[in-house]
Amino acid sequence: MTATPTPAATHQKPPSGSSSLAAEKVLVLDFGSQFAQLIARRVRDEHVYCEIVRHDLTAERIAELSPVGIILSGGPSSVYEAGAPQCDPKIFELGIPVLGICYGMQLACKALGGKVESHTVREYGRAHCEVVDSGDLFRDVHAQTEVWMSHGDQVTEIAGDFTALAKTATCPFAAVRHNRLPIYGLQFHPEVTHTVEGKRILGNFLREVCKTSGQWRLGDFADEAVDAIRQRVGTSRVICGLSGGVDSAVVAALLAKAIGPQLTCILVDNGLLRKDEEIAVVREFTEHFKTDLHVVKAEERFLAKLAGVTEPQTKRKIIGGEFIACFKEEAAKVEDARFLAQGTLYPDVIESGGSPDGPAASIKLHHNVGGLPKELGFELIEPLRDLFKDEVRRLGLQLGLPEEIIWRHPFPGPGLAVRCLGEVTAEKLHALREADAIVVGEIKAAGLYRQTSQAFAVLLPVQSVGVMGDGRTYENALAVRCVNTDDFMTADWSHLPHDLLSRISTRVINEVKGVNRVVYDISSKPPATIEWE
Ligand code: XMP
Repeated sequence: MTATPTPAATHQKPPSGSSSLAAEKVLVLDFGSQFAQLIARRVRDEHVYCEIVRHDLTAERIAELSPVGIILSGGPSSVYEAGAPQCDPKIFELGIPVLGICYGMQLACKALGGKVESHTVREYGRAHCEVVDSGDLFRDVHAQTEVWMSHGDQVTEIAGDFTALAKTATCPFAAVRHNRLPIYGLQFHPEVTHTVEGKRILGNFLREVCKTSGQWRLGDFADEAVDAIRQRVGTSRVICGLSGGVDSAVVAALLAKAIGPQLTCILVDNGLLRKDEEIAVVREFTEHFKTDLHVVKAEERFLAKLAGVTEPQTKRKIIGGEFIACFKEEAAKVEDARFLAQGTLYPDVIESGGSPDGPAASIKLHHNVGGLPKELGFELIEPLRDLFKDEVRRLGLQLGLPEEIIWRHPFPGPGLAVRCLGEVTAEKLHALREADAIVVGEIKAAGLYRQTSQAFAVLLPVQSVGVMGDGRTYENALAVRCVNTDDFMTADWSHLPHDLLSRISTRVINEVKGVNRVVYDISSKPPATIEWE
């Protein structure tokens, strides 16, 4: 499940900096950039712990958090606009190295005596950059390098306070360094892969300027998390909901490692899971981790509630409500349970505004089916709340979870119900499940599963005429959906090879009873969504 937690579910974060591994930490001040999370991930890739915080955090609070470096993110505003997000100018006097990216650079330069002006044309895309000072920030970067720009304004005057480090044809100050303070600015985005040497430039900022030692390791994180869980839980029992998805599996594996026999997992089989999804999870957690696993067989119960219902949001509500009811009933059977473990991830924390120093909630909270309310009365444990999805996957592999679970595409809480358009029945679910397994199986066989983000079948409530042998058929149409995306907020349809699509179509029509037509969904998000309901 990719359920987003309720904001209420994100309250037990240890104070920042409490971890010894986070001693060397970089803060990203978020000015509303679509790339803030990407910057943080890139910093962590350099083995330096990184958190995203509000742009208006006071200099005093930042000093308290004692980062080794500060990155000012880009943002959609113009620095002179009324209400444009600002940072506390005193942060430039803390002596902590600062790297301003795009809007962040303009803010730093303006605060320190430079001038920012709008350009008549917005510069967007690849640009050719010439390095004019290959000292610290550009050490070992080629003199001519490709960078990625996305800006309307740019710094036009740096007075005597800054030195230009790089330029492009239209941007004389593509990179700058302050003459007295450890403050740097980049007009381009080092965090995106189109900036060919962006990794090196960010790495230089961390090592050459911030003097980080790059000690942060996921394995150490796991050991720390295990210790923290043991300390917090003591001898109590912890319940963990398993969904078949990677997040809950990694939480359960981490808990199994930390407190083994004190863990009880609950898997609600709502009859809406993908083919063999339950089997893989049950096998792993009973045979490998030897966990106390309760599987609640609730297919009939869910289908009875869904009978006759066609409206998508009503379906979601019914499934969410029934899931909570089933989970509650099963949890009540577990004696002495005090804690509930959840697979909340760092993007959920950031987007829900759930961290005291973090940015305000964004508009991204939209799906919340499959989550559990806080009224269940348990104390929450959220051991993954500092991690990004790719880190969770790496952690899962380190904990010994199989690739099949780790790389499984995300799946919505309401499951196949939102892919079985119109009324959900056992018969339609059976056809959909089989078709979905063919779609996914063929994409895997073509070696494209890891290169796509989400692939699935959707059973349409549309019948069309066909011929089979000598007979005329009048059966359902099935849509194949396959998308590529980084964040699931925007997505492109995947350009799957025609012969693969052809194999999928032939197999589905031949093997799945009740389907005589297959179509491929070539809509991007926006304006379409990934799911059809
Ligand atoms: P959409 O369809 O909005 O989906 O483009 C974006 C991502 O969210 C997943 N999704 C859901 N996840 N409960 C969930 O837990 C839901 O009700 C739900 N609806 C969509 C979807 O699979 C995609 O990954």
